[in-house]
Amino acid sequence: MSDDPASEGESGPTHPTAASQSPTGAAILNIPKVSIQGSSSESEDTPPTPTASGESGPAETAEGEAHPNATNQNDDDSIGEFDDGRSGKLTLGILLQEGIIEAGEGVMAIEYLGQTFKGDLMPVGKIRSQETGLVFNNPSAWAIYCKKIVNPAKKSGCGWASVKYKGRKMDHFKSQWTKLKAQRDAEEAERLASQEAQLAEDLRRGRQQLEKDLGAGLAPIIRHAQLSEKQPSDDLDIYVETDPFTDKARVQPFNMSVSASALLIIELHAQCHPVASTCGYLAGQWDINAHNLAITHAFPCLGMSDMAEPDRSAKIEFDIYNAIYRKHLVLVGWYKSCPSNLPKPLPTLRDVEAQLAHQVRLLGANDATYSPCIGMIFKPLGLNLSAAKSDCLAYWVVPPLETNPYDYGKPMMMAYTCIVDPCLSQDALDQIDRILEQRQDLIHQDPSLGLESRGLLESLGDSIKRKAPLDQQGLLWPYIYLYFPSVFRLNPFKMEVPTLKLTDNILCQRVNTFLSGFILDDQRSDQVRQIFESELDAGMKDGLEGSSLQMENTYVPDLINGTEEGQFLSLDLGGTNFRVILLELKAGKIVREEVRYYQVPEEKRLGQGEDLFDFLGICIYDFTDKLGLSQSCQSLALGFTFSFPMTQTAMNQGVLVSWTKSFNCPGVVGKDVVDLLNHSLAKVKPDSQKNLSIEVIAILNDTTGTLVKGAYDRPNTCIGLILGTGCNGAYFERSENVIRWHGGKYDCKNVIIDPEFGAFGDNGCLDFIKTKFDEAIDSASLLPQSFTYEKYFAGKYIGELARIVMVDMNKERLLFPCQDVEGLLIQDGFPSTMLTEVVEDNLNQSVERTITVLKKFSANCSPDDALIVQHICLVLSERAALLVGIPMAVFLRRMKTQEGLIAVTGSLYKCHPNLKARMEFFTRKYYPEWKGESFLSDDGSGKGAGLIAAIAKRLEL
Ligand code: BGC
Repeated sequence: MSDDPASEGESGPTHPTAASQSPTGAAILNIPKVSIQGSSSESEDTPPTPTASGESGPAETAEGEAHPNATNQNDDDSIGEFDDGRSGKLTLGILLQEGIIEAGEGVMAIEYLGQTFKGDLMPVGKIRSQETGLVFNNPSAWAIYCKKIVNPAKKSGCGWASVKYKGRKMDHFKSQWTKLKAQRDAEEAERLASQEAQLAEDLRRGRQQLEKDLGAGLAPIIRHAQLSEKQPSDDLDIYVETDPFTDKARVQPFNMSVSASALLIIELHAQCHPVASTCGYLAGQWDINAHNLAITHAFPCLGMSDMAEPDRSAKIEFDIYNAIYRKHLVLVGWYKSCPSNLPKPLPTLRDVEAQLAHQVRLLGANDATYSPCIGMIFKPLGLNLSAAKSDCLAYWVVPPLETNPYDYGKPMMMAYTCIVDPCLSQDALDQIDRILEQRQDLIHQDPSLGLESRGLLESLGDSIKRKAPLDQQGLLWPYIYLYFPSVFRLNPFKMEVPTLKLTDNILCQRVNTFLSGFILDDQRSDQVRQIFESELDAGMKDGLEGSSLQMENTYVPDLINGTEEGQFLSLDLGGTNFRVILLELKAGKIVREEVRYYQVPEEKRLGQGEDLFDFLGICIYDFTDKLGLSQSCQSLALGFTFSFPMTQTAMNQGVLVSWTKSFNCPGVVGKDVVDLLNHSLAKVKPDSQKNLSIEVIAILNDTTGTLVKGAYDRPNTCIGLILGTGCNGAYFERSENVIRWHGGKYDCKNVIIDPEFGAFGDNGCLDFIKTKFDEAIDSASLLPQSFTYEKYFAGKYIGELARIVMVDMNKERLLFPCQDVEGLLIQDGFPSTMLTEVVEDNLNQSVERTITVLKKFSANCSPDDALIVQHICLVLSERAALLVGIPMAVFLRRMKTQEGLIAVTGSLYKCHPNLKARMEFFTRKYYPEWKGESFLSDDGSGKGAGLIAAIAKRLEL
């Protein structure tokens, strides 16, 4: 295969029979191998922090009071020979292994109230009493045994402090070991840090080299006017500027359109092979009357990277030619990619020459056989995010004047319209598969080819998704994404937080250790998933009686079906804003929508329940008054989104289980909220509205509203997730599985369940992931010991978690080391909006905005401080994504849907730069078959209430 289509006189895409006829010169650059070993997750390798028992020796536990049978493995510090020391717990076995003490007869002693007891130290780290011959697992057990002989009332043995080895207290040997361990830990930390720094440096160098190599061939860019007549010595690799036809008020020779799926294939092809030029053919239709060239298909030349195999290249081109022919298409051009670090896509002089030759060749003998030929150049995304965006140029070459046949043709930019196809054809999907398969092969041969950053992939996903038909956007990218495992190659499915890099390696290590409690390894995440599943089953059966998941039946059995008509009132209460909405539906479509917001003051959120509901009533009448509704209608059906846990016995009945978030009004828990609202509506009704009757026909949770509103937006929706101040998600359950159903079961296949998963773990089943910071958040919250799961990550808490971590780090002098930062001490002083801003700054590889945020707390914020705070926010965000992803995966799997979509409402989801992507990643981790996505369904909680009221009216429930 020639690497120069222009230089081959007879070459061109029209006649794909010889190896030399490839459309482009896809040069394979020499890519340096980049080191890819090592983990980016430092937490895994973090040496464990010594536990309290490790620091102070085994606690004096009751284990000595039991029969001191040495083989009882349940004893607190009896792990003896089974302990490898990594738990941080010191045992005699470890001291023996370390050579600090030696086994021997009579080397152990206890002196107590004038009596001396002697013991042998056994090679397995146990003590044999010389007096009784009994064997003890540890000093504590032996000490309490001996002391009780002298003083039966003695409860504890002070093992390590009272037992002596060769005349010296065991404490002495313990501190020897502690020092040794600390020294070793420090050495290990240093080794790991330097290993990581080295790996990071290798990676950076590798990338730099890669970029350099890609840019190495970057010849200068010149304007056409600078070119003189052709000379054999001309450098054909220089790039030539292209101008639009409009510049010189010239008219484009023909109109042009390109299908979005052809662009998608060109882009994916180039991006999947970022280090070499990619090429392919363009096919479509030429409409001679309309003078329009429609490019409908792109045919990538896949597998042409092996220059040594010309026959193979010829075969590939031949197959493409046949495919074009079979589809009754016309060959209309070719495409190739250019280096990502060119400022914009440009053809080389060689491309210009080749293009002109192709144009001439496609001219045909007469109008009937003529078709124009287009060249397209695609510039992929750079390997690092700072590189400019991808871009695609279409160009056509104006031939030189007949009087100057030795001049170069002038490449001109062609304007084109992009046409989004109604659906992705099977052809296009097959091409996508083939591109992705080739990518897998390439990475298999050279793993360094898969060095995309997550940020790059997200930009690629956005760009590709925009080129897919609307109803397939959600499916396409997740599907393609599965082929990019390289991003997670270092740490396949673990929580993944970019490695913290600080100038001070030891500080870096200490920060990582400090935050390690937030990192859930695979085993613990899987445990969370399993417990979630079993709590779900228990909740389905017994609700809160048997589980921390309430799994409440909402009695909503259906979605909007397109027949709903009329005006409906919606209420949305859950945060500090109360919303009243009027929705008007025609044939199931929202045709009018009016909204008003009312601030709910703190005294109403924490005051008597009756006052709160009177306040809601007053707002509702204010709304109906402002809209003149009492004049225009006599009765209004109302749907009430009440975003708190309720037990329901019907769609229009909901008893409050407990307040959450920032509400705590006495007198409401245990009461039917619909009754309370009806009562207030009657009580505060102004005379001016006496003709208007408002009937509350549905009460719902915000997740239920979001699910119904999401399905209104996109029919495949099967989960409504709230990821805002609080968190919870509703899904469809098969009605035969719903046991708790008051009144007769409706005849319906499914019903929406509100699991109230914010309360997951309230029964202690998740305590194994609780850090001391989570405990602190809970005890400082309005309602301690409730809504445990939500407090790990929801918008009301995540910023606060970051703040208390910062306060503690400041105390430990890990953060802002030279000062006590008092500004940080204000509760809720670091809201989730700050956290999302900091994460965004990190993803943009900057610290500027972080420093500006932190300046509010401390005047002296170093770049290292900013990096540490970014790291805290990333770790907490990653944990949030994991903990939300788990329930999503469990629900999707339960519904057995691969295409199901998740509609989301909530500021945390909306504002966080990558929570969506990471949550989807973890969802897919636990349900790999899932091809759907999550999407923002704005105001699901508000509009959903109106939609559900309309459904209730239609079904007459
Ligand atoms: C409430 C849920 C609600 C969620 C999201 C939680 O505190 O208990 O009912 O769905 O917040 O608003």
